[in-house]
Amino acid sequence: MNNDKIFYITTPIYYVNDIPHIGHAYTTIACDTISRYKRMKGYDVHFLTGTDEHGQKIQTAAEAKGQTPQQLVDEIHLNFKRLWEVLNISNDDFIRTTEPRHIKIVQAIFKKLIEQGDIYKGTYSGYYCVPCENYVPESSMGENKTCPDCGRPLTIMEEESYFFRASKYVPDLIKFYEEHVKAVMPKIRYNEIMSFLKSGVKDQSVSRTTLKWGIPVPGDEKHVIYVWFDALINYMSAMGYIDDPEKFSRYWPHVRHMVGKDIIRFHCVTWPLMLIALGINLPVEIIAHGWWTREGDKMSKSKGNVVDPFEMVKEYGLDPFRYFLLREVPFGNDGDFSELALVGRINSDLANDLGNLLNRTLQMIKSYREGVVPSCVNPQSELSELALKTLENVDNAMNNYSFDEALKLIWELIGRANKFIDETTPWKLAKDEAQNERLDFVLLNLYEALRLSALLIAPTMPDTAKRIWQQLGLEGEPVKMLYEDFSWGQGAGKTINKAEVLFPRIDINEWKKSREEKKKLEEVKEEVKEEKIEHEAEISIDDFKTVEMRVAKIINVEEIPRSKKLYKLEVDLGYEKRTVCSGIKAFFTPEELNGRTVVLVTNLKPVKLCGVESNGMILAASVKHDGVSEKLTLLEPADKDIPLGSRVS
Ligand code: ME8
Ligand code: MG
Repeated sequence: MNNDKIFYITTPIYYVNDIPHIGHAYTTIACDTISRYKRMKGYDVHFLTGTDEHGQKIQTAAEAKGQTPQQLVDEIHLNFKRLWEVLNISNDDFIRTTEPRHIKIVQAIFKKLIEQGDIYKGTYSGYYCVPCENYVPESSMGENKTCPDCGRPLTIMEEESYFFRASKYVPDLIKFYEEHVKAVMPKIRYNEIMSFLKSGVKDQSVSRTTLKWGIPVPGDEKHVIYVWFDALINYMSAMGYIDDPEKFSRYWPHVRHMVGKDIIRFHCVTWPLMLIALGINLPVEIIAHGWWTREGDKMSKSKGNVVDPFEMVKEYGLDPFRYFLLREVPFGNDGDFSELALVGRINSDLANDLGNLLNRTLQMIKSYREGVVPSCVNPQSELSELALKTLENVDNAMNNYSFDEALKLIWELIGRANKFIDETTPWKLAKDEAQNERLDFVLLNLYEALRLSALLIAPTMPDTAKRIWQQLGLEGEPVKMLYEDFSWGQGAGKTINKAEVLFPRIDINEWKKSREEKKKLEEVKEEVKEEKIEHEAEISIDDFKTVEMRVAKIINVEEIPRSKKLYKLEVDLGYEKRTVCSGIKAFFTPEELNGRTVVLVTNLKPVKLCGVESNGMILAASVKHDGVSEKLTLLEPADKDIPLGSRVS
């Protein structure tokens, strides 16, 4: 394979202690899309992602759960793996910083840098939060030098530490960036990094004695290697640096890192300085994207406004979600996640523009040509011209990681094809024998526009592309095709399949209503979460069987004058009627209860409550605060026709 056609791309390795959210999804989907695109351009692609598993937070969380840190990360790194499966991510490797293949290389590099004098021992001093066991950089300290996490005062702490001689290589790095102005993208980040470099870079502390959960410094085990020094090396350790020189030398010269703008200093300053010290070539490109907020707000766990990608996919489908993230915001800019905007794009871009083009075209081929794509002598048209230009322009956009621009271009082609239908009015041509050839030409052109569109959207929406492909009656899968194999007119003679709706339209009013309901439900869920979950001791199935529960119907409701909480209920079990006292007065009027089908515990010992004998208990779920029910709902059989007296088990 051509040696220029190699592409190695990485995502940041995400901290395992975070719950994956759309920020992580975004970077990974962008890398997935560019990887799939490059594969379709004939590149040998290697796409790496993974997890960052060391550090104080993991150690603390593990202690709190009574686990070892390793047990904890073994569990929680799966959150990310699961998400990548759900998001249809085509990564070639997944690296964890707790893997031996990584640890070994971090230690080897550390040792090498000590030996060549680029890592030396010194004293680190900084603001430290004792309860959180964490150094806090001055830039993120609270007012009056407090911890941004817990708000408690920080103390100045000093410890022995190893330092990386970063300052020594700064002039080399400046020179490199001067010669490679696209090594950091976009331009605004490049400028930021250049001015930072020129303002001077201090040697960097790369070890800690205050924490345990990290990679030990070789030969000085009371130190562990600082998490960032450890983490950055993943890009090399996953590539078989040392162990697999062939693989390393094949892919490393083509490495590019995609990151959020939050971590560019580590990637554009620290990391290249480490690489220069090691005598290894620098990344070809470091691409920094912007920051997602939600409906104008910063997303954070404490605000509870983090967008859950699992939920988005469940609600709107995977491909619309992927499309929206990449289409909505110019890459590099900050973006605001609004579900309303997502629904808007589903309805207009996906259902209307793309969905309709497919549907109209297939319908016409079916009714005018019995489902067989016609051929014609010269299929070239305005549409074919635009299509070829689109291929080229999309390539430029993709090479600049302008995903939004690429999608915009593809939708221009789709829009043009829809207009082509309106202009050529195939339904009129179909009525006129003399226009037979013209109709062949029009239908073939539309079919080809769709075939190319499927190929062009495949990197962003692999499943949708495949569905279009199948409806078009084509074999294989678009993501496995090469763009260079495409030529206009090849589709002639194919037999199409049944047209199916690609994206159902979402009714905005219905959607708004269901959103309100969902919000209410979430409020309740929040309360349940706040409540401490206390589990009872385990019981056997035989213990459980001793509780007799049956379906009953409330047939009369009376107040008990002496009680604020209790109603006196008469219930019908089919085989008998009983009196039951139930503490649900605060939640229901008698009218709301009368006639309801409920579940009754029938073998409770009778008790006298406020002078009334109660013979059973009605089951309800409730949210409690300090032992007092705040919300309550009765358990009811889903099928109200189930006979009264039926046993619940
Ligand atoms: O920084 N908007 O991991 P991390 C856009 N372990 N992107 C976002 C985002 C948001 N709101 N939130 C997160 C770390 N991201 C280190 C990296 S690499 C050697 C070590 C994405 O879990 C974005 O890519 O905090 C950002 O750079 C990354 O997640 C940070 O992930
Ligand atoms: Mg972070």
